[in-house]
Amino acid sequence: MAFKITDQVSWVGKIDWELRSFHGDEYSTHRGSSYNSYLIEDEKTVLIDTVWGPFAHEYVKNLKKTIDLNKIDYVIALHSESDHSGALPILMNEIPSVPIYCTAAGAKIIKGHYHQDWNFVEYKTGDTLDIGSKQLVFVEAKMLHWPDSSFVYLTGDNILFSNDAFGQHYASELMYNDLVDQGELYQEALKYYANILTPFSPLVTRKIDEVLKLNLPVDIIAPSHGILWRDDPAQIIKKYLQWADQYQENQITIIYDTMWNGTKRMAEAIAEGIKAADPIVDVKLYNLAHTDKNDVITELFKSKAFLVGSPTINRGILSAVAAALELIAGMGFKGKKAASFGSYGWSGESSAIIQERLQAGKIEIIEPGLKVLWNPDADGLKSCREFGQIIADKLK
Ligand code: FEO
Repeated sequence: MAFKITDQVSWVGKIDWELRSFHGDEYSTHRGSSYNSYLIEDEKTVLIDTVWGPFAHEYVKNLKKTIDLNKIDYVIALHSESDHSGALPILMNEIPSVPIYCTAAGAKIIKGHYHQDWNFVEYKTGDTLDIGSKQLVFVEAKMLHWPDSSFVYLTGDNILFSNDAFGQHYASELMYNDLVDQGELYQEALKYYANILTPFSPLVTRKIDEVLKLNLPVDIIAPSHGILWRDDPAQIIKKYLQWADQYQENQITIIYDTMWNGTKRMAEAIAEGIKAADPIVDVKLYNLAHTDKNDVITELFKSKAFLVGSPTINRGILSAVAAALELIAGMGFKGKKAASFGSYGWSGESSAIIQERLQAGKIEIIEPGLKVLWNPDADGLKSCREFGQIIADKLK
């Protein structure tokens, strides 16, 4: 249900506690999410974004309890993706002539989704809209993370409605950053950045610099998912600048899949070698077949280097490893180093295949891949430990 953020601004979205996957099954949402929609009641009444389609009827029904829909002067669609535009068809049935403010790309995409000829009004960066005692200032945020993404700033209350940027898939009835568990909040904010914004990091830095140069005071950052940043909202801007700048912690992550535990034993022996050479580095191991793929990407995002292992099967690699390499290539990680490993029985292509795919994803190879015949014996395990030590030494 609605709640007041300021005298004239209300949250009118939907908290989705049940959501466990997003973008189909491409993004796990262990802690649910929310679709944040906002209502501004100045001399003009403005609705910012809506909710995902399955909640459209509930959303419009609840919105009617807060406002007579005929009082809405402007609808603003900061981003056309279905989780924010999904209630437009039901809503616009009720108020068909109300203008929908969006970017030029947004109008095209919304038409592509819903095939409706609504009254679109396109905005560009710097355009403003007077709504009475306050003003709205639009900022395009192309490719953060879609071509149409944009922000809007409300003067007076100093709220930056940032849509997906600074959001988290994090359901909470507490709604504000100072009230929720900080570990949970930052885990979800980091996961969101790592999985959704990593490919666009150079644009993140440029856009934040551009917004900071506008010198607008920001008291609240109100994203379209998760909690609102009202306590020191600059903290998440600073984090984004760090995350966008080839972020890494003192962590090496080993990801692998295994059939009869040969490659798993290699992974464990490599970890021993790393630990022996560098007791401070945080070594983490994940079996890709048993680990959530988005959690893996989050761990790789935090790593200065990662190792990828698979046994050879049918002259190739195991499917969980192939899927992870596809995701890694799409991330466009910068400044990370990697190496490959794997056990084999006869042909033994896996380590070389992994290395090639990492290189194709522009990941720097720190050491040529390692392969061990069958289940590693004492010599095989020794070579794995040495491999780990060489890698740790090169990363110091
Ligand atoms: Fe939350 Fe890109 O949609």
